[in-house]
Amino acid sequence: MDNRVIINEVGLRDGLQNHPTHLPVAGKVKLFTALRAAGVSNFELTSFVSPRAVPAMADAADLVLAVPREPGVTITALVPNRRGYARAREVGVGGIAVVLSATETLNQKNIGMSLETATAECVAVIEEAKRDGVFTRAYIAAACACPYEGRTDRNVVLDLAHRMLLAGADEIALADTIGAGNPAQVEALFGAAAERFGAERIAAHFHDTRAMGLALSWVALKAGIRKFDASIGGLGGCPFAPGASGNLATEDLTLMLEQSGYETGLSVEGLIKAAELAGELLGSAVGGRITPWFTSDRARREAKLGAA
Ligand code: COA
Ligand code: ZN
Repeated sequence: MDNRVIINEVGLRDGLQNHPTHLPVAGKVKLFTALRAAGVSNFELTSFVSPRAVPAMADAADLVLAVPREPGVTITALVPNRRGYARAREVGVGGIAVVLSATETLNQKNIGMSLETATAECVAVIEEAKRDGVFTRAYIAAACACPYEGRTDRNVVLDLAHRMLLAGADEIALADTIGAGNPAQVEALFGAAAERFGAERIAAHFHDTRAMGLALSWVALKAGIRKFDASIGGLGGCPFAPGASGNLATEDLTLMLEQSGYETGLSVEGLIKAAELAGELLGSAVGGRITPWFTSDRARREAKLGAA
């Protein structure tokens, strides 16, 4: 099976949307540049949501216009409704992601819509994007558990995914929004999704809330999934899903994949630098699990070089 894996960097969106420090556009561009230097070429850069709901994403259009357009670099944005799609389209994003939660309550809390209304809104956005030739992803949020309704029924997730694919979505991202999944559950969910829809249409989005992000990624990988979301420095969390903490850190996922013989095209060293920069810009420590080890090892190596 193909050993190439796409890592979709969601740090600038999922990572920053709920952070107490709001990075100005210039800071976001600096972080983007550091991620590019580390080889990142897939970005969910921002979201075109209500600035009242998520103030940290109010600069979405300015940010999209501020980052360079380069061949081979994919810039996507999350849009919760047709209004968000129109805003994203105005600045020419290459792809969009709609967000549908698997439970009634999370749809209400997150986007103020019932599951039925949210489904119809997502279908409308996907159909419009399709007509415009824009790449579309549909998130199924709370794919493992909902902070309000508990464990999620796998069949509900699969049926919603099916609805989105029928509407024309290019990709389904199954999202463990609050990091409540376990490997057995994720194996069953991603195995069923891969079998029913084809693994190439499924992406995985994990949060590391309970330290299971890597284990969950590994079982999804073994189910054939080759596209994973991750966030630099493990930044992240949804303001409307209590208990949602940081995403799986890009540097942790990359190290695991590279050491296991998969190709990500990313440099772990470059990612550590980007994570350090994120910490400086945000004025608070960030970093996945590998950072202390990696930096101390690097410090030792550099000390040796200095002594020679
Ligand atoms: N972008 C910017 N503004 C938007 C918008 C969008 N995509 N959609 C609606 N708005 C504005 C409306 O114009 C209105 O503005 P006003 O109060 O100045 O008149 C206001 O937002 C409320 O709009 P309304 O249609 O009544 O919806 P709402 O208050 O129920 O909010 C959403 C619906 C979807 C806009 C809002 O819940 C949202 O942005 N959620 C995003 C959640 C999120 O990002 N979660 C994390 C990622 S999963
Ligand atoms: Zn998330």
